[in-house]
Amino acid sequence: MGSPSAAGTRERVRHVTSADPHPGAGRPSTAGGTQPGRTRPEVGGEGRVVMSTSSAELVGRRVRLRPLAVTDFAAWRDVRRRSADWLLKWEPARLDGYPDPVEDRQAFAARCGARERERQLGSGYGFGVFVGGRLAGEMNLSGIQRGPFQNGFIGYWIDESFAGHGYTPEGCAVALRFAFESVGLHRIQISIIPRNAPSRRVAEKLRLREEGVAVRFLEINGVWEDHVCYAITAEEWWERRGDYEQEWF
Ligand SMILES: CC(C)(COP(=O)(O)OP(=O)(O)OC[C@H]1O[C@@H](n2cnc3c(N)ncnc32)[C@H](O)[C@@H]1OP(=O)(O)O)[C@@H](O)C(=O)NCCC(=O)NCCS
Repeated sequence: MGSPSAAGTRERVRHVTSADPHPGAGRPSTAGGTQPGRTRPEVGGEGRVVMSTSSAELVGRRVRLRPLAVTDFAAWRDVRRRSADWLLKWEPARLDGYPDPVEDRQAFAARCGARERERQLGSGYGFGVFVGGRLAGEMNLSGIQRGPFQNGFIGYWIDESFAGHGYTPEGCAVALRFAFESVGLHRIQISIIPRNAPSRRVAEKLRLREEGVAVRFLEINGVWEDHVCYAITAEEWWERRGDYEQEWF
């Protein structure tokens, strides 16, 4: 597919440095936002207003999202070891011949470094999900493409012992706010294997639009699996911003 690369149009994005973990929240409306007191960035087009992507931490009601660091290795290893049966069936298989970041601190450090480079390039933003200060899972905004697409994908997992408390939909709502209000994307997709009922519930709770099934879309655990594609555009985000605010922020 001849889609433009993430890096190719970065100069179109105006980054504004801010330490505010809720960029845009509580500021005067400048562009006709549906929520009084909210800044509504323009969507699409060269005049896009983009707020901060420099805040490392994103904050929800109960969850905190921040990039993982090498110092998280022990906690990450413990969760991943404990949850292997719960998680691996929904993930791409690890490539043969590469060190396992679950068992190898250097491989985990390299993974953190790769995420940091993506962050610097603006092609992806990876976060650990923390609940009550404990590492509970991960949430990734990845595959960002600029140009006329302005699209990204969200992926996630949570420790089995944290499942069922709505932490993932809350984390997703926080990541969507970041994607639309800070990164300035126009569309976010979540792709889910049809039989993954818990993950589909997450998309339903966020009222994402179900767009159909992409056949043999991703290779998961060694099998080319169909995926149900869910999506939300910036227009839909701003229409429902008040509801998301009440429910998740
Ligand atoms: C999908 C996943 C991230 C959902 O996270 P979560 O924080 O538990 O999300 P929620 O609390 O909103 O629960 C969603 C649904 O999961 C199901 N669920 C809840 N607790 C569960 C448990 N202990 N075991 C299995 N399913 C459970 C329920 O159907 C729930 O829907 P409900 O709230 O309407 O009852 C999590 O199940 C997970 O990490 N699964 C393994 C990895 C995975 O599937 N990743 C996503 C790939 S697309």
